[in-house]
Amino acid sequence: MGRSPRAGGGPGGRAAERAVDLALAELQRRFGLGRSLAAPGWVRERVLAVLSGVAARHGVSPLAAAERLHDDRVASEEIVSALRVGETRFYRDPIIWEAIVSSVLPRLPPDLPIAGLSAGCSTGEEAYTLGMILASAGRRFSVLGVDRAPAAIEAAREAVYSPEAAEQLPPALLQRYCEQKGGALHVCQKLRDVVSFEVCDLVHAVPSGGFQIIFFKNVLLYLAEPAGDAVARRLAAELSPGGLLFSAASEAPRLCSAGLTSVRVNAHVTAFRAPGS
Ligand SMILES: C[S@@+](CC[C@H](N)C(=O)[O-])C[C@H]1O[C@@H](n2cnc3c(N)ncnc32)[C@H](O)[C@@H]1O
Repeated sequence: MGRSPRAGGGPGGRAAERAVDLALAELQRRFGLGRSLAAPGWVRERVLAVLSGVAARHGVSPLAAAERLHDDRVASEEIVSALRVGETRFYRDPIIWEAIVSSVLPRLPPDLPIAGLSAGCSTGEEAYTLGMILASAGRRFSVLGVDRAPAAIEAAREAVYSPEAAEQLPPALLQRYCEQKGGALHVCQKLRDVVSFEVCDLVHAVPSGGFQIIFFKNVLLYLAEPAGDAVARRLAAELSPGGLLFSAASEAPRLCSAGLTSVRVNAHVTAFRAPGS
């Protein structure tokens, strides 16, 4: 890759765009982060934010910081971890979705409208996946996704994704609920009508609600212990009777120590309820 001359330009200017392109190419070379150059807006914003921090530390422009990434492993890793904060995809952890279809939905009365919550939804893939499985089970439902990152919520509302984001999604759900346009996946309007998104910092407030299904998955990692445990308890208190909170398997010990009650959904999947419920 050729070297660019150092250029000026504001945060959204050409030099900034070039800096982000260079950084994404370097991440692709070093870490194999997929087709990063087709990155959505929030990825580019996050890359630029980290590059600007690195640039300020070294007293150079973001473009110069990007040009040096090849020799700056620390800065490259900083960008990758900033991107992982929002890492998500459709149908992530298939065994959980399969357990919901086979063991959770059949136990809910067929005429009960189901309220779902994706707490820490990032760019919306988890919330839309929940919408897809509820819609394909013929249920009446609404799903709310919340995240503290405004750029992630904006992307979730746009509902346009790279094909890689849906690699784990069963083809039947993909065909039924996504349209392919110009190499991107667009979640169909009828699903967007029942899946909504709000900016919300869970540490300050959790959505209230009578939810039958809450996803609080891969978020605890970013929350310090007392605050994260309190968020988990507050979310569990928003479950309707019989409702279940789903996390990543690695988060189960922390949810137990926060006082939530574990519930075996099937041989492979454990979910959680509020203590004493
Ligand atoms: C790794 S993503 C998880 C996305 C999705 N739940 C999944 O498992 O695929 C973590 C998300 O949690 C969000 N998050 C972290 N702390 C939060 C907080 N205090 N309130 C709301 N969202 C938060 C981050 O912004 C990020 O989008």
